[in-house]
Order: sequence, then C-alpha cells, then structure tokens
Amino acid sequence: MYMQNQLLVFAGSTRQQSFNRKLAQATAAIARDAGAQVTLLELSDFNIPLYNADLEAQGTPADVIRLKEILWRHPAWVICSPEYNGSYTALLKNTIDWTSSPAQGHPDWHDGTKPFRGKVVGMLSASPGALGGLRSQSHLAPLLINLECWLAPKAWALGSAANAFDEAGTLVQPGHRDRVRAVVDQVLWASERLTAGTP
Ligand SMILES: Cc1cc2nc3c(=O)[nH]c(=O)nc-3n(C[C@H](O)[C@H](O)[C@H](O)COP(=O)(O)O)c2cc1C
Repeated sequence: MYMQNQLLVFAGSTRQQSFNRKLAQATAAIARDAGAQVTLLELSDFNIPLYNADLEAQGTPADVIRLKEILWRHPAWVICSPEYNGSYTALLKNTIDWTSSPAQGHPDWHDGTKPFRGKVVGMLSASPGALGGLRSQSHLAPLLINLECWLAPKAWALGSAANAFDEAGTLVQPGHRDRVRAVVDQVLWASERLTAGTP
C-alpha cells in the first residue's frame, strides 16, 4: 500500500540497464536498511503520453492522476536523474509537467502544485561520465523549487557509473553507499520535521 510508505524513490530513466534505475534500487535498499518505509517507483509502469494541452483538454490520462496521487502521498522523495545534454531527461520533464498541470474540473487535482508542495526532495544522479550527471541536478533544482518542494542541501552525483554496481545492483564502494545514506538521512530528517503534527 502506497499510503503507508514514507519515502518515494524513482529514476528519470526507463532504460533496462539504466544506471539511475540501479541507483534508485540501491537507494531504496539503503533506506529500508535505515528503517524507512520505501516505495520504489518505475516510471515505465505509467502510460503517460508526451504532454499536449489539446490532449489534456480531452481529459487528464488516468495514469497521470494515479501518479499525482502517489506523489502526494509521499512526504519525502529521492529522484535519480540521468543527464542528457547537460540537463535532465525529457522523460522526467514530461512526467513533472503532466503531474503538475491542473486537472480541470477534477475534485482532487485542480490544484497543479498539490502533488509537489512541501515535499522534501533529495537529488541523486548517475552517469558513465566523470561528473556523474551533476549538471542535470542544477537544472532540476529550480524546477522543483518552483513547484514548492524543499530541496535537501545534500545531494550526490555518481560518476563512472558503469563500474559502480555489482551484478546484484549493489553499490560496490562503501563510500558510495555512505553518500547515498547521507542524502536519505537528511531527506527523512527534514520531512519528519516538516510533517510533524500533520495527519
Ligand atoms: C541524448 C543524450 C545526451 C547525453 N548527454 C550527457 C551529458 O550531457 N552528460 C553526461 O554525463 N552523460 C550524457 N549522456 C550519457 C548518459 O549519461 C548515459 O546514456 C546514461 O546511461 C543515461 O542514464 P541511464 O543509464 O540512467 O539511462 C547522454 C546520453 C544521451 C542519450
């Protein structure tokens, strides 16, 4: 049940051998070991077309509504962002655009910012390159702030990602696992405080 979960982890890639999907899986495992309730989301589980306002005028797709609901139910997120051309992926942008667009006339989702407002978000990225997709984070950050997310000051970019995982998808280097854990800890720490006293 998504409702019981606290931390949402997802990657901005649906590629089968995606480093960012592996990083998301490793992050979920590390967060569970730390005692968190985790939802590991795969964007490939959602049938979401390329955003087009004419299409939206015919009705927001059911999977967009489903994803809005899941985002809204989780107070803390970690996004693993691949880097394409110094920025984040079209998949991530399309997903965020759809889920932040008001569903006109819908009783729950006419407020576009609702799934994003007040979320504590940790940014991770992975790339085969040396910078680890760090530049994708610098583009993603203002977008998330614009949607009223709280960004964790700690973030991390995994460079040379092709060498970072073993066959089971575990991060091989303890130092890498520590960096992920530090982001997870900070995200959970902040979200617990921001949501204290709310049902
Ligand atoms: C169109 C395109 C542009 C890319 N640009 C960058 C880039 O600017 N910086 C970088 O580190 N990697 C870049 N890459 C390589 C990606 O980091 C690499 O394909 C990576 O595996 C994608 O993430 P994933 O493994 O999670 O799917 C690019 C890849 C593509 C397809």
